[in-house]
Amino acid sequence: MGSLRFDGKVVIVTGGGQGLGREYALEFGKRGAFVVVNDLGSTPGGVGKTTKAADNVVEEIRNLGGKAVANYDSVEFGEKVVKTALENFGRIDILINNAGILRDRTFKRMSEEEWDLIQKVHLKGAFSVTKAVWSTMQQQKYGRIIMTSSPAGIYGNFGQTNYSAAKMGLVGLANTLALEGKKYGIQVNTIAPTAMTRLTKGIIPEAAGKEMKPEYVMPLVVYLCHDSCKENGGVFELAGGHICKLRWQRTKGAVLRELGKRMTPEDVKENWDAVVDWKETEVVQTIGESTMKVGEAVARINAGDNDLGSNHPIQPALAK
Ligand code: NAI
Repeated sequence: MGSLRFDGKVVIVTGGGQGLGREYALEFGKRGAFVVVNDLGSTPGGVGKTTKAADNVVEEIRNLGGKAVANYDSVEFGEKVVKTALENFGRIDILINNAGILRDRTFKRMSEEEWDLIQKVHLKGAFSVTKAVWSTMQQQKYGRIIMTSSPAGIYGNFGQTNYSAAKMGLVGLANTLALEGKKYGIQVNTIAPTAMTRLTKGIIPEAAGKEMKPEYVMPLVVYLCHDSCKENGGVFELAGGHICKLRWQRTKGAVLRELGKRMTPEDVKENWDAVVDWKETEVVQTIGESTMKVGEAVARINAGDNDLGSNHPIQPALAK
């Protein structure tokens, strides 16, 4: 199997100055891509800025014989980040939305400022840079975009309401971008990684952290951005060398409404076990499929053949 090359491709890695972003930037550089290393150089809490973070990685790439330029703008100003790519390399093929910070606090104590800052960097930042590359990618009928979500968004994590909301927001953003980009050859995928970086130092225990290096996250990101990868709209959780794909699963549920009868909260209570019963599940992958399921339920109700409802026994397949 040949190695995955990126010769002639232009990659923007936001937050590429350290941690996961640095790992991606170096690898793309080694594999022939022109790399824009964007980094504001702020603290993990998003305070201050320095050109050093981006400059160090640009130098590392150049020392390895690769081509790279630095950009020091915050991802909130996507146009400026993309301008650096276009001015230096004349095109843009791949965007890795990776820049990020933390402002952890329990919800009770979280200020509006802490909430806003996290949305601004993660969700608005990814929006802003993606918006700035979108028409170029549409016109050239090619693009690869990565969103960086988090297990904290998918599962929730104590003290991270602001971060969890932003990280799940990115999944929603990617879900729809994947649909809108498809006919233009733009593929948008999302990763939910865990890795030992300055952001997770003190959160991930040292021993576990040794097994969770950023270099174990990098290979998926690089593959997802290659010409040969046809994946679009995927969400992947990965850490320590394990990679898996996520999707939504729902219970089969219950049809509670009956023709000619008022549907009541008591119906919901009586049928609750069937609503939340995971014994039978279904996987719905598009909004079209979801609407179709509603249509099927309504058709059953109108045909009077739903055997569920407050006055009826639970359908045998759903019975406990
Ligand atoms: P890191 O702190 O090592 O690197 C993040 C980089 O982003 C820093 O160099 C920082 O200067 C830069 N940055 C921060 N705000 C910026 C802004 N407004 N504009 C441009 N650059 C900015 O963190 P790490 O761990 O490498 O995180 C990378 C991404 O992965 C983040 O989005 C983070 O939320 C996400 N993530 C990380 C996990 C982990 O276990 N390390 C877990 C889940 C998600």
